[in-house]
Amino acid sequence: MYKNVEYKIEDFKPAFEIENTVHITSSDEQTNLKPVYKTSDTILYHADCLDIMNILPDDYIDMIFADPPYNLSNGGVTCHAGKMVSVNKGKWDQSNGFEKDLEFHEKWIKECKRILKPEGTIWISGTNHSIYQCGFLLQKLKFHILNDISWFKPNAAPNLACTTFAHSHETLLWAKKDKKAKHIFNYEAMKNGYFNEDKMKIPNKQMRSVWSIPTPSPDEKTFGKHPTQKPLALLNRIILSSTNDGSLIFDPFNGGGTTGVAAKLIGSRKYIGIEINQEFINLTKKRLNQITQQPLIF
Ligand SMILES: C[S@@+](CC[C@H](N)C(=O)[O-])C[C@H]1O[C@@H](n2cnc3c(N)ncnc32)[C@H](O)[C@@H]1O
Repeated sequence: MYKNVEYKIEDFKPAFEIENTVHITSSDEQTNLKPVYKTSDTILYHADCLDIMNILPDDYIDMIFADPPYNLSNGGVTCHAGKMVSVNKGKWDQSNGFEKDLEFHEKWIKECKRILKPEGTIWISGTNHSIYQCGFLLQKLKFHILNDISWFKPNAAPNLACTTFAHSHETLLWAKKDKKAKHIFNYEAMKNGYFNEDKMKIPNKQMRSVWSIPTPSPDEKTFGKHPTQKPLALLNRIILSSTNDGSLIFDPFNGGGTTGVAAKLIGSRKYIGIEINQEFINLTKKRLNQITQQPLIF
């Protein structure tokens, strides 16, 4: 299923590469507008996604996968390894209040619309803490929603407080920029493909909108952990369904790099990722380097 096609660097010469500029963003993080990692098919920026999107051209990207902050690290509790622990995924995941969170989501979703090709699609993942705001904004910004997928986690942690149903799914919204444009949907690959991890998928029957995929296995965390790392099987399905050979994929919230790693494993795709946190940039580089032995240009 996987194949790797080498791109010549000229094939992937982003129009947006600019001088090595370091500046201070609103979040006081020092960010760098020059890629920190670059191969013939993959570019990674250590930056605030708004700063990089600002320099990307209009109508440029084929598919966006965005897994923005959930805004849920606000003193609650969860279950980890059978123990009750505080939910603290990092400062990046704290809520700044309803209005500011909404303002942030609107800024990046608006930029995503500008940089997507007319036939391009966007996936946004989240939990109840963030997904309604993102869905509202997709509608406000006149995207056309294609599906909302429930990613069911058969191995989700139990709810130790026993005060609510155990949280065992996340939602993925899939939308296209222009309702009239023809988007990519690889129907046959989804219907007839091999999805061994999903006990709900019936072979050779249509792929439905509930996907049963376990959380990442330990071998996906060999190089370290990201607190909200997505399983490769999830990104594999997203990329195979909504991109073709040669597609340019963009992830403004790269995290531990799952989107870029899946794109590289599938092959024949190009990837641009942005991540604000140095630790997660390092993790992504290690994961990417495990797949490719190509020398780094930066
Ligand atoms: C939910 S996680 C993404 C996890 C990723 N999908 C994976 O599988 O590893 C969101 C990531 O966005 C990063 N982030 C938060 N705000 C950002 C911003 N303004 N620009 C770029 N990255 C940001 C966080 O550091 C975090 O790693």
